[in-house]
Amino acid sequence: MIQVVVWYSTLFLILLLAGVFLWVAIQSKQKSDYAPVIKKWYKARSVYGILLVILMLVVSIYTLRELPFNKPAYVKGEEITTVNAEAFQFGFELDKKEFSVGETVEFNVTTRDVTHGFGLYDPDMVIIGQTQAMPDYTNTFYVTFDKPGTYEVLCLEYCGLAHHLMKEEIVVK
Ligand code: CUA
Repeated sequence: MIQVVVWYSTLFLILLLAGVFLWVAIQSKQKSDYAPVIKKWYKARSVYGILLVILMLVVSIYTLRELPFNKPAYVKGEEITTVNAEAFQFGFELDKKEFSVGETVEFNVTTRDVTHGFGLYDPDMVIIGQTQAMPDYTNTFYVTFDKPGTYEVLCLEYCGLAHHLMKEEIVVK
């Protein structure tokens, strides 16, 4: 959904920008006094600046209000499953890929070559956990699977030509 919105707004903004360039090109033949033009557009710039700040504030508050993400995490004393995950060009090797609903999993993530991203997506393609897969380093994150389905691990770091093909599936029953 958000991809579609981004796609159409990008297209709209590109067309808008092309329109502005076209308008400027057409208007460039016309001669006029410089002073009133400056006054008018300096004012427009201030209004634009203020609107931009307001827009960015609204977007920031809206997108960051859920931080820190209130996701089920590791509770002390709770039994957890440890999974070692190794990223490589171009895939992931996990020593366990089937889990049950309610199971809390500790992912220990590393890589055998270059840096990759390890993004865990639920069946609705909503990201529920992520960390960086770094050479000679293990990053850990916890996830409690709260619904059944097929989850996907996607690489979130551009790591080479087949980066976009780098994925693995996890099944939760
Ligand atoms: Cu691995 Cu992108």
